[in-house]
Amino acid sequence: MNKVVLVTGANSGIGLALCERILSQDTEGLQLCLACRNMRRAQAARCALLSSHPAAQVALLQMDTSSVSSVLAAAQEVKLRYNRLDYLYLNAGIMPNPQFDVKGFFKGLFSSHIITMFATGEGILTQKDCVTPDGLQQVFETNLFGHFLLIRELEPLLCHAGRTSQLIWTSSSNAHRSAFKLEDMQHQRGTQPYSSSKYASDLLSLALNTHYNKQGLYSSVICPGFVMTNLTYSILPSFPAFLWTLLMPVFWLIRMFTNTFTLTPYNGAEALFWLFKQKPESLDPQAKYHSLTSGLGNNYTQPRKMDIDLETSDALYEKLRQLESEVRKKLKEKQNVCRSSAGPGSS
Ligand SMILES: NC(=O)c1ccc[n+]([C@@H]2O[C@H](COP(=O)([O-])OP(=O)(O)OC[C@H]3O[C@@H](n4cnc5c(N)ncnc54)[C@H](OP(=O)(O)O)[C@@H]3O)[C@@H](O)[C@H]2O)c1
Repeated sequence: MNKVVLVTGANSGIGLALCERILSQDTEGLQLCLACRNMRRAQAARCALLSSHPAAQVALLQMDTSSVSSVLAAAQEVKLRYNRLDYLYLNAGIMPNPQFDVKGFFKGLFSSHIITMFATGEGILTQKDCVTPDGLQQVFETNLFGHFLLIRELEPLLCHAGRTSQLIWTSSSNAHRSAFKLEDMQHQRGTQPYSSSKYASDLLSLALNTHYNKQGLYSSVICPGFVMTNLTYSILPSFPAFLWTLLMPVFWLIRMFTNTFTLTPYNGAEALFWLFKQKPESLDPQAKYHSLTSGLGNNYTQPRKMDIDLETSDALYEKLRQLESEVRKKLKEKQNVCRSSAGPGSS
């Protein structure tokens, strides 16, 4: 039977590499949909995919996960185009205005946490967040809530008796329990919104399994490792390209000690692609699937237990449901105001 795969944030980096890898597999009849914010880049990505796979079915969908109305409109479009979804990759993500903590870096360099620091960015990365026109924290809405809303809207396509569908989140090893607080799930008061949003996606994935497995929908989480993409280059935007090139041998060397330095989007997409080939019932809902690359350059996927618990995951799910109703109510009120100001007869 034909499979339908939708990937968010598919126009560059790990998302695009995943699409390339999926199409490189024997995927006759597969329908791939790239859900992207920047359509110019999306067109370029589609052309690149079609140049290596001319017979592939690759569609584009405009969607900005940091906008409620954009997500709802995109979901509507998906429901018109397809009657089922087999895979939904929740990959779009941002780490805006990252600040590199030089002091934290040197402190970590001479501590026993040096490998963890390089592997996860713990203690050296903070970000400056902002508020979207929806009134939500941008990182929270882009990385988590927009995707949550998308899943909720696409429920009829994802939940079907007699067959399974998979949700696959691109999380991070930077997802730390210490950065997340249930009472501040949007991370309005902290300096690590990225880590908070990724930890929240780990929690949410577990809750989605609790609520949807009976309906054939399964959720998993991956970590791509440390990959050189637009997102990582933006950590040091003033760093000239040649310095990154000079750093590459150091990164390759670090890989001898930590296999999480996957470095290329192709390697980073390993766990996403591995999950594409798995039976979702066989997966561990409490595990994060890591893309790993050995010192000799061999890719493999390894599950590692996440630092999450059922109670917090369920509480987060309830809070997201509550926020969802508030957001929908607000949107309805806005539409009613628009209708009434357009005068009688408008529908
Ligand atoms: N690179 C790493 O080392 C690393 C490590 C751990 C986790 N990750 C995660 O991997 C995922 C992919 O990132 P990447 O490293 O491949 O970086 P990337 O090349 O910058 O890709 C990010 C993708 O997300 C899209 N995106 C951003 N904001 C969006 C929005 N509001 N609506 C829709 N799409 C949006 C971007 O599209 P635009 O063209 O519109 O910006 C782009 O396609 C992210 O979730 C990231 O957090 C990356």
